[in-house]
Amino acid sequence: MPYIVYTMTQAHLATLSTLANKAEKTANRSPQEVEMTISGSPISSFFIVLVALVGILIFWMSNSYTSILIISGALWISYRLSMGSSSDPYGLFHLALNRLPGQDPTKPPLTEWLNMGFWKDTDIFPQACRALALKLIQATGCKRGDRVLDVGYGTGESLLLLLSDSLIRPSSLTGITSLPHHHHRAQDRVRRFQKSLEEPGIEVSLHAYDAIYHPTTVGHPLDPATAQFFDVILALDCAYHFNTRKMFLHQSFEKLAPGGRIGLADICFDPSIGSRAWLVSSLIRVIPKYNLTSIRNYGLDMKEVGYVDIELNDITEDVFPGFIRFLKSRGWRWAAFGTLLQWYVNSGARFVIVCGSRTL
Ligand SMILES: C[S@@+](CC[C@H](N)C(=O)[O-])C[C@H]1O[C@@H](n2cnc3c(N)ncnc32)[C@H](O)[C@@H]1O
Repeated sequence: MPYIVYTMTQAHLATLSTLANKAEKTANRSPQEVEMTISGSPISSFFIVLVALVGILIFWMSNSYTSILIISGALWISYRLSMGSSSDPYGLFHLALNRLPGQDPTKPPLTEWLNMGFWKDTDIFPQACRALALKLIQATGCKRGDRVLDVGYGTGESLLLLLSDSLIRPSSLTGITSLPHHHHRAQDRVRRFQKSLEEPGIEVSLHAYDAIYHPTTVGHPLDPATAQFFDVILALDCAYHFNTRKMFLHQSFEKLAPGGRIGLADICFDPSIGSRAWLVSSLIRVIPKYNLTSIRNYGLDMKEVGYVDIELNDITEDVFPGFIRFLKSRGWRWAAFGTLLQWYVNSGARFVIVCGSRTL
């Protein structure tokens, strides 16, 4: 059953991504965006969709237990092939989630958030996502004129938030995100936003890189050899993907200006249910096993790296239940995705806001 739900969900997300790409075709798209896929490889994504469609067809026709097993096995293998060693499952499916109730489905959504949201005072997805972003930004003490690095910016909604709020507008904004199609889309959106301003826009520099600096990457914002430093580094709902989170904490520490602060909206685990978390991560792979940590060890890692004024705020109850409730209200396919997330929650997942500073 886990394989069936998971592989069907992933195949569905791939299909949604492809459909969303088509729906967005009229919006300003760069040539690279035409190549968009869920994992960055058009062939593998096409393969998943094809296998999924054939699988669903056979399922409808036969409905026997053996055929379900065969289909789910084929889907699982094609999914694993398409993922390679990556734990980055994102496409453009989040556009559908950003569409407000009653909004014209042929028009693109007004926002492009892609996080799990902070659902304390709302049951509307974009509002919850914005609330989570603001909670993280406020936790870092980010203020107008800071030099900000936003890591894992997706298609750029957090960048637009930073640029449009006069209380937190940075003096320079740098971004790193892993998927080139997200990067191109975010770059277009930021460019259009800056053009719409009457005053000159601020300096924005966006990169399609892995969050972790590798010596072969030219111009990476976390390259320790450059003289670029940041007052605030943000990782909104993404650091659990990084290989590894601890390496990211190290590299970020080196690039914080004295007194600078890092903020992560992240997932860790209740230590009492460790083996279940390990099992779920082995199956689902969205959070790699090397990033499974408890709140306590997260804090110890931060301390070991050199951070001071460390704060860990467990906001689980205002994140997962609201997000899962929302997914379950969006039809059975999203409900299946919600079920997967519920497995993580049942295995002890905690959603946390983590902050730490570099000493003056
Ligand atoms: C849950 S989404 C959050 C997007 C955005 N922060 C938001 O709140 O809308 C996670 C983002 O992190 C990016 N990501 C995943 N692994 C990454 C990595 N190793 N390096 C850089 N970005 C990564 C994904 O592509 C995706 O855009």
